[in-house]
Amino acid sequence: MAPRKQDAGTRSQDTRLIRAGQALEPLARTVGPPIQKGSTVLLPNAASLYDDANYLTYGRQGLAAQTALQDALAELEHAQGVTLYPSGVAALSGALLAVLKAGDEILVTDVAYKPTRRFCDHMLKRFGVRPTYFDPRTPPETLVGEASPATRLILMESPGSLSFEMQDMARVAELARARDILTVADNTWSAGYLMKPLDHGIDIALQALTKYVGGHSDVFMGSAAAAEPKLVRALSDGVLHMGWAVPGEDAYQMLRGLRTLPTRLARHGQSGLTIAAWLREHPMVAEVLHPALPGARGHDLWKRDYIGACGLFGFILKPGPKAAVDAFLDELELFGLGFSWGGFESLAIACDHQLTTRKLLRQYEGPLIRLHIGLEDPADLIADLARGLDVYAARRG
Ligand SMILES: Cc1ncc(COP(=O)(O)O)c(C=O)c1O
Repeated sequence: MAPRKQDAGTRSQDTRLIRAGQALEPLARTVGPPIQKGSTVLLPNAASLYDDANYLTYGRQGLAAQTALQDALAELEHAQGVTLYPSGVAALSGALLAVLKAGDEILVTDVAYKPTRRFCDHMLKRFGVRPTYFDPRTPPETLVGEASPATRLILMESPGSLSFEMQDMARVAELARARDILTVADNTWSAGYLMKPLDHGIDIALQALTKYVGGHSDVFMGSAAAAEPKLVRALSDGVLHMGWAVPGEDAYQMLRGLRTLPTRLARHGQSGLTIAAWLREHPMVAEVLHPALPGARGHDLWKRDYIGACGLFGFILKPGPKAAVDAFLDELELFGLGFSWGGFESLAIACDHQLTTRKLLRQYEGPLIRLHIGLEDPADLIADLARGLDVYAARRG
């Protein structure tokens, strides 16, 4: 005869405290998904312990908020699958490590986000992958045509970091596919909303969700999206092998950000264009680098592939010393001085120091400034910039 199960009431207080207060079942249906916190996942019976095909067996992947975010991002990116990473840089490194091997060569845009270059130069090289940097204005036929037989992947970022050069990513993807070369786009500028790389034949679309999807400058996360089932599998195996996980709270925050992404982007984009147009007329400004601004460099490509703009762009000041640039930035009250973007707040940085890490595009006509236009009233932001530029004019001598 089987031994009788112990009556729960006779167990000690210590045991009862361990078992008390388990989650309600079924859970109340809230608008957002539940935030589950769990490394351990309880399985219903012994047979399911090693049944990975039918059961979630461990909490690093597959919990409710994270899965809901992946589904929503797949919708946003027109993807078959999306993998999540603890930051935008982790999405970049994770995606590349998932598809590259020793002996591969890769072509990387010279205007990539600086930590992208750092990863390629410091990590990939150690593992036998050789990066070569290209000018994003290189015609796609030349870029792909001159790629060596060992070239496995082309990494693009358009518009480019800091200087906003546009690249015909669709044409590069078309030519690269014919040569069996993978294409990857860091699409953070468009937040997966203004332009959809996968629809243009690019193999992997990356973004730092930290920026516009989060939208409040307080959570890190990155994503990699793919349409091809084999690539989706390679990316998710990569996450599995690297042991990465993102917390449910952060996934929930990202999902919340996603709900208001179109509304916020419309405002960022419109205010950005208003301010870019104002800057273009200012006597202290040599050029505005904003592909959505009619007449600006890269505008034709932007018009072909994008449905709008975000709030990030650059401008070149008339030549002046660093002290005058610093005085301009220090005069700003509504623009914080900070390296990020995509949040509700306006930010400004000087870029020349960072340009020195590039190989090719290192110099512009004058000092390069990057602005992120937040959700403040654009008239107030213009007044702030006007005061700053007056100081610049006075200090440049
Ligand atoms: C274009 C671009 N890609 C990726 C990242 C990295 O994102 P994270 O800060 O989440 O690592 C950034 C951050 O500034 C970025 O500007």
